[in-house]
Parts: sequence; structure tokens; C-alpha cells
Amino acid sequence: MARIIIAVDGYSSCGKSTFARALAARYGYIFIDTGAMYRALTLYVINQGIVNSPSRIVEELDKIDISFKFNSQLGRSEIYLNGANVDSRIRSLEVSSHVSTVSAIPQVRDKLVALQQFMGRDKGVVMDGRDIGTVVFPQAELKIFMTADPKVRAMRRYNELQGREPFEEIERNIIERDHLDETRETSPLRRADDAVVLDNSNMTVEEQMEWAEQLMSGIRM
Ligand code: DC
Repeated sequence: MARIIIAVDGYSSCGKSTFARALAARYGYIFIDTGAMYRALTLYVINQGIVNSPSRIVEELDKIDISFKFNSQLGRSEIYLNGANVDSRIRSLEVSSHVSTVSAIPQVRDKLVALQQFMGRDKGVVMDGRDIGTVVFPQAELKIFMTADPKVRAMRRYNELQGREPFEEIERNIIERDHLDETRETSPLRRADDAVVLDNSNMTVEEQMEWAEQLMSGIRM
């Protein structure tokens, strides 16, 4: 079967990356976590002390280099910011609480969308984000839109952070980010008309994979 582009969009902390990574491994595709790219850029502007100044952020964009490198020990890619591995630092609550406003800046999106299109130019990719099926690859052959109950999502992120942040704060952050992601002017989070919805509130990763395999087997290239 010809290699395709699989766009996985949806709300934050829905398990998009876990699902997209497993799907990529299943089909020998490259997995690209675009949320990690917005997070890495946000970490850079926090470190520069300019996170609250959109005009300064825009001025700095050319100095920001974001890439992925495969870590053979972990068996997955990690994200690099100007040559430094920032894979775990981008998950902090500080980055989470600023990333929606930073990613709403049109020039930030232009930069990262162009990079994502370049990364997917040869197809054979599973890309997860908010606007992959609508903006980055509107011609993607398969589009999946993920959603799950906010409480379930907050609990997942709480476990991921191993209790380092209070549950209530994580839940509040998720609800606030949903709102910001859905209402921003540039590329708001919305389901592409031709996307298939996956609500995984009560599904294991294995069940989600079975669901996706069924979809894949129905795609005739
Ligand atoms: O998937 P995530 O929670 O790691 O994403 C972090 C933030 O990045 C999220 O609040 C919205 C933003 N984002 C975006 O605007 N567009 C994307 N394609 C991916 C993420």
C-alpha cells in the first residue's frame, strides 16, 4: 500500500501522542508531535524572558531551531531546541500555561507549519496536533480527531507528571487550554469535515489501535 499522511488532531492530553506514536510504529511511519514543537518554542521565549511580548517573540523567530533526533535507547525521537535536548523540560506546567498564547501568534504558526510540511513531504508520517488535518495537510489521506472527557484527560496528565502538580490545577489548565485553542483567531482547533472522531475516554491503547487498523484497512490507495 502507498504511504500516506495520517493527521491526528484533537484536544490536549487526549493521548494523541501515545496513539499516534503507536500507529506510526505499527505501519513503520515517522511520528511527529507538533505540540512538542510549539512547546519547545515556548520554552525558548520563557528562557529569554520575552514570553509576554509577542513583538519580541516574532523578532527572535529566526534564532530558533527545532528538530527531532531518534534516541535508539528509548526507541523514540526526542526534541531538540538549538541543539539541546529539551524533551522533558517542555512538559512543565510553566510551559503548558504559556504555550496556547505563544502558539496563537500568526508568525509562530507560519514558521512551524512550514517546518511540519517539510517534515511530511515524503509522506509515511503520523503527525499529531491541532490543525494538521485543517491547515498543515488538508489533503491528508486519513484524518482522526481525538477527544476524551476533561476529567479523564486531567488524570492521565496527573499520572504522567507523577503527582508533581496538583490535580485541580492540571484540570483547570486543560479546560483553559481547550478554550484558548478553540477560540484563537489563527488556526483554531476544529474538526476537519472529513475527519473521523475517536473518543477514547473508555478505551485502552490496544482498543484504539484495533479501531485504527480497521480504518486503515478500509483505505484503498
Ligand atoms: O499537544 P500538546 O498539549 O503538547 O500541545 C501544546 C500546545 O500547543 C497546545 O496548547 C496547543 C498548541 N498546538 C497548536 O497550537 N497547534 C498544533 N498543531 C499543536 C499544538
